[in-house]
Amino acid sequence: MPTVVLGISGSVAAYRAADLARELMRHGFTVRACLTDAAAKFVTPALFEALTGQPCLQDTFEEPDRGRMAHIDWARQADAVVVAPATANVLAKLAHGIADDMLTTIALAHTGRLILAPAMNPAMFASDPVRSALDVLRSRAAVIVEPDEGEVACGEQGQGKLASIPQIVRAIEGVARAGRLLEGQRVLITSGPTQEPFDQVRFLTNRSSGKMGSALARAALLLGAEVTVIHGPQREPLPMEAHRIPVQTAREMEEAAFAALPGHQWVVGAAAVADYRFAQVESGKHRRTGEPISVTLVPNPDVVAGLAHAAEPGVRLIGFAAEPSSELDVARRKLAAKGLWAIAANDVSVPGIGFDADANALTLVFADGTVAESGRRSKLECALFLWETCIARQLNSQS
Ligand code: C5P
Repeated sequence: MPTVVLGISGSVAAYRAADLARELMRHGFTVRACLTDAAAKFVTPALFEALTGQPCLQDTFEEPDRGRMAHIDWARQADAVVVAPATANVLAKLAHGIADDMLTTIALAHTGRLILAPAMNPAMFASDPVRSALDVLRSRAAVIVEPDEGEVACGEQGQGKLASIPQIVRAIEGVARAGRLLEGQRVLITSGPTQEPFDQVRFLTNRSSGKMGSALARAALLLGAEVTVIHGPQREPLPMEAHRIPVQTAREMEEAAFAALPGHQWVVGAAAVADYRFAQVESGKHRRTGEPISVTLVPNPDVVAGLAHAAEPGVRLIGFAAEPSSELDVARRKLAAKGLWAIAANDVSVPGIGFDADANALTLVFADGTVAESGRRSKLECALFLWETCIARQLNSQS
């Protein structure tokens, strides 16, 4: 049975979490409740223990199984972690990684998408700090179940009432279901820049940060895949749960990718592979003479095109086309020339998206000519869009 951790924070709407717990159980979930101290002023652990048949936690150091750290066990075992109701205080803490009680500690230790159902006074909900906390949480792929409009407990009118129980249950089911979309499937991703040495201390590279590759890996893990990332020297950290294979040059990336290819159903070329390398690499350090020098650059292998050529039928290959324009002609040509299933085009001339930015806007072009657009979003949200769109197409083409 799927397990949900139901976090309850100190809004008057805490009483509605009892109905939510019951409804989740009717939908087949094992429910483990966790209260903040403020929530425990409105509702009691005894109520949730009686309803769910599971221990209800409140204090960070509680251990229902002695010697086992409950915050880690619960975070790991959960198919979904929801906070309903989520107060302004809890949203701010989650946005900043503050983990000063059991609920926020479990939320921080959980690697899946959080589901957050805010409930508070309308003025608090409309405040800048709450808006920005929600923006940060959305950019990390948290699912926000927007509060309803109406009269809230303090008598004011406006947006702030906890969303309906069916809406919250739908969001939880969506996250739990999505967590299995790529279950049993293996994803191979190339990420980051490559470095092509000139001599022992200098190299040719590009502005890729590896943020998109890292987001694609994280998103594939959220959907249940086993993930291998072949990455150049990138600044952005990669998820610990991925198999990470570091390389430096395009030729090393090609060799590692070919070795890893068998057994993967999905391949994504998100690396900005240097198109050229130095024909000759000088040993030691090239000395300055004051005279002009000329060097010869020779073309590097096209890694993703080579993988497309070598892959078994049925493997889905997705490339990236970072172009200084929104025109899709070049992306379409690359898709065909490289023999890919799909290509994600992004316009790198638009400020704030693309290279080294935290946001992106993808246009997915498929081999049959159809197109899907993500709109401007965080790279993690773009990555989830890419996976969900590609999986939906794959399922459609199979049915
Ligand atoms: O041709 P262009 O470099 O613009 O193509 C971009 C796509 O091809 C990306 O998916 C990139 O990861 C991949 N690529 C590659 N090896 C290269 C050049 C590009 O895998 N040498």
